Amino acid sequence: MTGTTDASSVPGHIAIIMDGNGRWAQRRGLSRSEGHRAGTRTAKAVVTRCRELGVRHLTLYTFSRENWSRPKDEVGLIFDLLVEYMKGELGNLLEQDIRLKVLGEMDGLPFVVRQSLSHVMSKTAHCRAMTLNLALNYSGREEILRACRALAAKGLAPEAITEDAFAAELYTAGQPDPDLIIRTSGELRLSNYLLFQAAYAEFYFTETLWPDFDEAELERALAHYQSRQRRFGKTGEQVAD
Ligand code: FPP
Repeated sequence: MTGTTDASSVPGHIAIIMDGNGRWAQRRGLSRSEGHRAGTRTAKAVVTRCRELGVRHLTLYTFSRENWSRPKDEVGLIFDLLVEYMKGELGNLLEQDIRLKVLGEMDGLPFVVRQSLSHVMSKTAHCRAMTLNLALNYSGREEILRACRALAAKGLAPEAITEDAFAAELYTAGQPDPDLIIRTSGELRLSNYLLFQAAYAEFYFTETLWPDFDEAELERALAHYQSRQRRFGKTGEQVAD
């Protein structure tokens, strides 16, 4: 890392769409599995670097609800990598004071995956330096509908359905909205990711494929973020005041 990141304006919450593992592998004549393995190595490095930089919340889009339509072998491999990650990284997460959370419908995941996630979540529940959210079996639209159902079940009066009351029913309850959303591999889509929470996020898109997203790439994304003036609906002059 070049050390040029301005610590005072590091985003509090970074959310990443880790895209391009398959193309990375294909370009090297490797299997898609190798691409996901390389992508997992990148995820580990990015978690550590974000923690070092003082990012408080990091969300990784690891498996969308739509990803179930991939070949069975590939889905199985992604879950195997996830279980391996949980086994191999628990010590590092504790050492780095990182709390693990899952955003998504955990009940829909295979038993062994749920078991290993639950184990790491309970072991790291007391950690405070950073929250690592893995979006798993996640759909932004489903998350919104789920929140609507929860509010309806509580029998809230229409005027009691405020933004705060709504946000408290999302998987991200209690966490700030993402300040910066990064998507790798040149795709310019949100793909059903954090639809409610992304309202005022800055976006950073790069052609780089996820396995190649190294420290220098993260540095570039942060420099882009730091160069942006976030307006939250105000004029440039109002923000400068
Ligand atoms: C997108 O690449 C990547 C995924 C759908 C899976 C993401 C999973 C990992 C990086 C591994 C697990 C991570 C952790 C934290 C354990 P793609 O397959 O859509 O790439 P393509 O668009 O080039 O085909």
